[in-house]
Amino acid sequence: MKEKIFIVEDDPAMRLGMAHFLKSHGYIVTSCENGLEALQSIESQTFDIAIFDLKLPGVDGLKLLQAMKKKDPTTVVIIITAFAEIKTAVQAIKEGAFDYIAKPFSNDELLLIIERSLKFRNLEILEIEVEYLRKTVRGKEVFEGLVGISNSMKEIFDKIEVIAKTDVPVLIQGDSGTGKELIADAIQRLSARKDFPYIKINCAAIPETLFESELFGFEKGAFTGATEAKKGKLELANGGTVFFDEIADMPLSLQAKLLRVIEDGIIYRLGGKEAIVVNLRFIYASCKNIKELIKAEKFREDLFYRINVVPITIPPLRERREDIPILIEHFLEQFAKKYNKSKIQISPSAYEALLSYDYPGNVRELKHAIERGVILSKDGIMDLKHLPEEISALSSIELNCINNNISLKECLEHFEKNIILKTLKECDGKKTEAAKRLGISRKALWEKIKAYRIEE
Ligand SMILES: Nc1ncnc2c1ncn2[C@@H]1O[C@H](COP(=O)(O)OP(=O)(O)OP(=O)(O)O)[C@@H](O)[C@H]1O
Ligand SMILES: [Mg+2]
Repeated sequence: MKEKIFIVEDDPAMRLGMAHFLKSHGYIVTSCENGLEALQSIESQTFDIAIFDLKLPGVDGLKLLQAMKKKDPTTVVIIITAFAEIKTAVQAIKEGAFDYIAKPFSNDELLLIIERSLKFRNLEILEIEVEYLRKTVRGKEVFEGLVGISNSMKEIFDKIEVIAKTDVPVLIQGDSGTGKELIADAIQRLSARKDFPYIKINCAAIPETLFESELFGFEKGAFTGATEAKKGKLELANGGTVFFDEIADMPLSLQAKLLRVIEDGIIYRLGGKEAIVVNLRFIYASCKNIKELIKAEKFREDLFYRINVVPITIPPLRERREDIPILIEHFLEQFAKKYNKSKIQISPSAYEALLSYDYPGNVRELKHAIERGVILSKDGIMDLKHLPEEISALSSIELNCINNNISLKECLEHFEKNIILKTLKECDGKKTEAAKRLGISRKALWEKIKAYRIEE
């Protein structure tokens, strides 16, 4: 590639001499003699290098430099000065000129400075590109294992980056399978506590009777069966992070005790008198609406205010459909690798079905569907029949109707028949239950079963 050089010099002998010399070295040279004209060229063209005389009639070299940097910061600017103008030249460098060259100078000196500036420019462009790539990769796909391009996910990524470094409590809310645990993990991994203990406590999985000893530990003889002292999870996590998953399921009695730990940073083992000081960062997650639980007096309001300092709410997948295609791509790659399959293609109808489904189970459901599809796929193709029925069923009816020009009446009948079949299947063939779910009488269901010749 031939670099484009722009020379602005009012001394005709110098201007023509430089232009001639640089052209003979393979550069494409544009030149002009006054500042005003130069401003027009800056606006209308792009250059790799600009060489401006500092003193020009009208608009001087410093002004041109500013205009050039504004128009295209990647253009390298070299300033030509008279010996007495060195001070101004230094000013020019502060404003972004690459270097200056003092009159009188030889052609070789000029060439040297041009070559040096081009090297510098290419490095600088490389840096800009690396930065750009870094940003787009991050914007495009994965942030700490979290895939998402929707605005809501991008906002969450930004929030995670900011709060991870702090010790503020975070409450992550979202329906089942939206990625709450993945987000908690990302926060922990990006925090200053990343090399310290990370203890996860699933409040829905611990029986109420064991909860207290799990959290706080116990001393020997604290209760029958306590033959040895044992540290609780909060003590084990000291210095690190505790993730309370399904915090809404924490028994009320324990909520009061947790509140005290949060406020004082002190725990006591069961049967113990010694105050143990703990330093912990708390992350909480819940798929239940805690505000409603407060109304029902199942969750302490004072605890809620303590845990809900920074809320992160993940929308269900159906409300951020832009994320579905890249999640598909992500899981496809992941499972193709896991099951040692080469590149897998998704058939158009299967893809359509995956894109239009509602995903009540959110990302987890999509992930499982792709995993299953990858396992069942044949000859590198994942088709509608390889997808779970919930995903393939309705959309295949739609597609059939559209593709085969079926009348609306037939289409609706087809649809009705499939819904009835699906419901019957889900109710293990129990008609009373199926009728109830479908919101029709048992008699009406019978008639439809007969009409559609649905076999037992
Ligand atoms: N944005 C995402 N990018 C990639 N994988 C995701 C994303 N969100 C969720 N997943 C995957 O979906 C599955 C469910 O995620 P996770 O366990 O974090 O959800 P959850 O909100 O904690 O669900 P639950 O409420 O049921 O516990 C995991 O396998 C996780 O890896
Ligand atoms: Mg979870």
